Amino acid sequence: ENIPLELHKVRVVQKLHLVPVERRLKALQESGFNTFKLNTNDVFLDMLTDSGTNAMSDNQVAAMFRADDAYAGSQSFTRLLKAVQDVLGKEFLLPVHQGRAAENIICRTFIKPGQIVPMNYHFTTALAHITENGGKIAELLCDDALEIQSTNPFKGNIDIHKLEKCIQDHGSENIPFIRMEASTNLIGGQPFSIHNLQQVREVADRHGIMLVLDASLLGENAFLVKQREKEWKNASLAEILKTITGLADLVYFSARKLSSSRGGGICTNNRTLYAKMETLIPLFEGFLTYGGISVREIEAMAVGLYETQDETIIRQSPDSIAFLVNDLQQKGIPVVTPAGVLGCHVDAMSFCKHIPQSEYPAGALAAAFYLISGIRGMERGTISSVRDEQGNEIPSDLELLRLALPRRVFTLSQIKYVSDRMQWLFDNRHLIGGLRFVYEPPVLRFFMGTLAPT
Ligand code: F0G
Repeated sequence: ENIPLELHKVRVVQKLHLVPVERRLKALQESGFNTFKLNTNDVFLDMLTDSGTNAMSDNQVAAMFRADDAYAGSQSFTRLLKAVQDVLGKEFLLPVHQGRAAENIICRTFIKPGQIVPMNYHFTTALAHITENGGKIAELLCDDALEIQSTNPFKGNIDIHKLEKCIQDHGSENIPFIRMEASTNLIGGQPFSIHNLQQVREVADRHGIMLVLDASLLGENAFLVKQREKEWKNASLAEILKTITGLADLVYFSARKLSSSRGGGICTNNRTLYAKMETLIPLFEGFLTYGGISVREIEAMAVGLYETQDETIIRQSPDSIAFLVNDLQQKGIPVVTPAGVLGCHVDAMSFCKHIPQSEYPAGALAAAFYLISGIRGMERGTISSVRDEQGNEIPSDLELLRLALPRRVFTLSQIKYVSDRMQWLFDNRHLIGGLRFVYEPPVLRFFMGTLAPT
């Protein structure tokens, strides 16, 4: 058995509540069958997301105590800037309160109505900000990237021929930037290779287009490059991280995933790009040396960025995910392979073959799994998608139940409990029924929408 070995020890713990199934049914009804709306006192293992839920290291907590509270010119910010320069290799940093705030600033600054943003794949908030500013997206993954069971080590790669064609079709003047997302979230946390990013860089240079990297899941993408891309096998994570960020003109991140539990940033070596965005920070975020983040969290971000270079720290989550993915796969339960980052992704389309996509199989599976286990996962399927301009559903490419493993939070026995309950649900999957919307918000409907059984 390939047991993931934790190279840390647990020193602060939080009591969990495994409430009876009758209460879980009631909680589900009260929350409109939307796991976002559950309260944690009804949740046993919270696998909704890895965002803001990672365990802090002793050094991060220690750093939070020495934070320099100042509206302007805080030394905490100076330390974060130094970390960004050392780890990400970028000279300028604009702090923002979280990842989507970076997307707001970048999209407002660079997108004009009617323009198109080519990318490997969208993330919900990135798509929302691009459309909010009148832009459209072109998703250019390789054809096999959406195959659930695969041996492709880099499903997050962009198809270079599709990229060339997209630029030819639309004209480089209508493309404000190319967006590459590290460890492409919505297709199951799947990485891109450095070789692919180098090719994207080459195309971008040839056409004079800016390359923007969403680095929210960069640490694990770098780790998987080391594991899967043979040229980088002997390189240090520090070197891999800098190589990846060095290929992008602009790097932005949600520090809720990368390095810490709060905050975000946009960084670059290009003073002109920096200057174009600078004035929006005080308008939307806060002064340029805190950007809406508490100085304590800024200290934790700085320490966390350095920790991203440490393989013994970064590998904990991908190793645990690989264990869970392999375990489920051996039980015949359909999961996204190869194992990616962030969490384990169960294929609801094949798990719930009897539920049509119009009745949201991934949402139905998320609700059912909570009911039978107390574990909260997240729907990543059509509920997380949007409607077109005529108001028709755009069925999602994939219907996934994501079981996130926040970094260093869960133990192996808890992970085995997940697998055991999933096996029970799989054996009894005919019990799962479809869902329909009762209340559907117009933007990012998955967060606050309510549903009911069909
Ligand atoms: N980019 C990626 C790749 C993300 O995964 C997220 C957030 C964001 C941007 C936005 O960052 O939440 O700090 O505003 N992903 C979370 C998730 C919400 O659960 O997957 P944020």
